[in-house]
Amino acid sequence: MIRYIKQNVDKFFPNGSIGRRLFVVGLTAFCSLWCTALILLMGTYQAPRYIHKKLQTSDSFVWKLMKTFLSVPSPTAFLFLNYNFFLANKSRPRLSSGVSGYVDGSSGYYSHDFDMGDGESIETQQRGKVLELLLPKLATLPEGAKVCEIGTGNGDVPAYLSEKFPEIFFEGVDFSVNVATEKHLGNVGRRLSFKEGYGLDLLQAQSLSGDVLFASSTFVLFTPKEIDKYFELLSRSFNTVILNELILGDYQTHVEGEPTSIHMDENMWFHEYILYAKKYNFALDQYTLNHYNHPTSLRPDIKLFIGSFTQEGGF
Ligand SMILES: C[S@@+](CC[C@H](N)C(=O)[O-])C[C@H]1O[C@@H](n2cnc3c(N)ncnc32)[C@H](O)[C@@H]1O
Repeated sequence: MIRYIKQNVDKFFPNGSIGRRLFVVGLTAFCSLWCTALILLMGTYQAPRYIHKKLQTSDSFVWKLMKTFLSVPSPTAFLFLNYNFFLANKSRPRLSSGVSGYVDGSSGYYSHDFDMGDGESIETQQRGKVLELLLPKLATLPEGAKVCEIGTGNGDVPAYLSEKFPEIFFEGVDFSVNVATEKHLGNVGRRLSFKEGYGLDLLQAQSLSGDVLFASSTFVLFTPKEIDKYFELLSRSFNTVILNELILGDYQTHVEGEPTSIHMDENMWFHEYILYAKKYNFALDQYTLNHYNHPTSLRPDIKLFIGSFTQEGGF
């Protein structure tokens, strides 16, 4: 190929001729111009934006190929995104970069009619799996006990519980509780309430406390430093913690040793809940770790960790 090009250049612009010199100068100027443009393009923040826009709008074959590569979740793209998420969050003490979609309410969990293809009633939904350990615990609480859910979404679970246990105070916490309050307005009264805010700040400010704290698919979003801090603060404010959290993949839950957290996929972490709880004086009451047949995900490796922890000797 190169020999063919050289032969033709030699033919049209013989060595030593003026034409040959003009050709070389022209070619150099042309290449420099393109290189400069490319460097400018890639060297500024516009480059990723340009590429992202092209990926969404261009119909050319090359961009389509690139689109396919990026959207058929290729292992490389997954690795890249996951590793970048891990780097950005591994030392972050609060609010993982993955929760921004929840902070502004665009996640779907706040929706009035919570519908993630997830079962018709609370009992059959993923969030309802927490009831396995929660209901027997609530049945032992005295009148006037206080129970709180962090990451309440549209507030359906505390609303459901407050009907079952009218003598207990329930509080649902989330970044936004507008929908929860609106939806359960008729019930919001002395014994059911919603509080807006970031759980860790509310705990730190001592505006969350009670007998039982529970959560579903929420602790899985905390960063390693954040979960450590949560358990430290929970140990000062709640007697019992009941969790219902996703585990993706083949992670082992240990009951002895130092707690660790490993990033799984997207914005989710595998935390050794039992060990974090132990570190802050919570004893493990019971837990299950079973395969979960998720109604919408095709992943075959979804498990639910459902565990209950109680303060040794109270707080
Ligand atoms: C994956 S959704 C789960 C919602 C609901 N518990 C369920 O299982 O359907 C996680 C929820 O937790 C909330 N959340 C996450 N971190 C939180 C935090 N630190 N403080 C308060 N809310 C939080 C999010 O806004 C979101 O509504």
